[in-house]
Amino acid sequence: MDFETTAEIPIPKDPLERVIGQEEAVNISRIVSSQKRHLLMVGAPGTGKSMIARAIASLLPPPTHEVSVLHNIERPERPILSVRTSKMLEMEKGEKEKEWGESVHPADVPSFVSERLGFRCRRCGDLSTPRALYCTSCGADKHPQKYSPFGDLLPSNDQRDGRVHAVRIDEDGEEEPIIYEKTDDDRIRKLTHSDFKKRAAAKVKKLRKVIVSLSRPNFVQVVGNNETELLGDVRHDPYGSHPEIGTPAYLRVTAGAIHEAHEGVLYVDEMTTLGDAQKYLLTAMQDRNFLITGRNPSSAGSTVRVESVPCDFILVGAMNINDLPSLSPALRSRIRGSGYEIVLNTNMEDTPSNQEKMAQFVAQEIQMDGRIPHATADAFGKILEESRKICRATDNKSGLTLRLRVLSGIIKLAGDFASLNESEFIDSAHMGQAIKQAKSAEEQLEEKYGNIWSAGLADYGARSKKGSETA
Ligand SMILES: Nc1ncnc2c1ncn2[C@@H]1O[C@H](COP(=O)(O)OP(=O)(O)O)[C@@H](O)[C@H]1O
Ligand SMILES: [Mg+2]
Repeated sequence: MDFETTAEIPIPKDPLERVIGQEEAVNISRIVSSQKRHLLMVGAPGTGKSMIARAIASLLPPPTHEVSVLHNIERPERPILSVRTSKMLEMEKGEKEKEWGESVHPADVPSFVSERLGFRCRRCGDLSTPRALYCTSCGADKHPQKYSPFGDLLPSNDQRDGRVHAVRIDEDGEEEPIIYEKTDDDRIRKLTHSDFKKRAAAKVKKLRKVIVSLSRPNFVQVVGNNETELLGDVRHDPYGSHPEIGTPAYLRVTAGAIHEAHEGVLYVDEMTTLGDAQKYLLTAMQDRNFLITGRNPSSAGSTVRVESVPCDFILVGAMNINDLPSLSPALRSRIRGSGYEIVLNTNMEDTPSNQEKMAQFVAQEIQMDGRIPHATADAFGKILEESRKICRATDNKSGLTLRLRVLSGIIKLAGDFASLNESEFIDSAHMGQAIKQAKSAEEQLEEKYGNIWSAGLADYGARSKKGSETA
């Protein structure tokens, strides 16, 4: 190895290049993400299945669709689905913030308008800010209500709203309503009737619940067979959407993992734990949309339905080889029909180039942890040795193990020892200590008693010793 410490080893930016020893899976993963295919990974624990799934998601473009449900006035139990693109959302935001109409100087509007909005003095005709109650030129009272016969009883509308409605004759001789408004910067905003209506429409808040937001992570992981988590739900309402005390149906709709994974990766760890839900997953993959309804038939939520909620995801499944027989054949053929099935390696050949990859792995683990120092070449040698040992023990052949979670644990433990000793690097002593410590209970027993069976007998003996000395 031509390095002194792992700090010198460059770490690839591309998350898929950080996966070592799984070249085939990595190549396929690139196709999966660029062509939006499905992927089933079969392999031993700790060989990189989750890591690959995350990497696929990180290569995808960010989501461009937001999914929400709207209150349906006619049939509240059928909320209306609304899918908005990022472009539409931006436009709507622009409309909301847009300054409608035209900003004009108070001198450029009819004088009755500037008078009624409090700019112009009714006696001398000079302009001043409407915040001044008396004309700054002649000192006359500008307060308009004084001029109304009922002024002391009723405030004028104009005064209250800061708005004057007028009519102008356009080029075609048609009457066109115009609205003048006082603004905070002592100018007047002039709006046509259509500006006025558009502004009002943009300001109206629809009764909407966003169930899948635009700024969501595009990696969604599911474990186990919780159907509501996978497929979404409509919460129960003990008051049955009662208009005053209940919660309206649309507010009780929640998306499932399949919907949240829209435009992203749905990662199902241990596929077979899905159980019966495998068939729903299959339907969702075929239709690319899936109904949301209350999953509990006795709940008020089961009367509420939102049809065709989009769920166009890349399915990345992971499982152990032993579980293959319990995977639904239909689901499996669906994955194979529009994707790939791949078995991960548990070891690689002990070549210099693979040793280099192992060094990259160690450097990565240390960098990702962020709290432990880098390792010396000697310490790395120890890890390499352990990798050979594990390979021999688990795969019964010579090579380097790719059950890297185990090694990752050792590296972190060694890092903790180094930090504890305030050492600048992880040295071979720290690594040796970590290897010893990291051994599983079974391994420790085996070491102590030769094999697990005699360990069990020794334990039995120790317990029965309490009664008699012979056991
Ligand atoms: N092939 C690999 N290349 C680099 N690091 C790996 C690899 N496999 C596992 N690791 C390391 O071990 C950790 C656990 O791996 P993970 O992807 O969760 O395994 P799995 O999902 O197959 O059980 C990863 O976060 C990573 O740090
Ligand atoms: Mg995993």
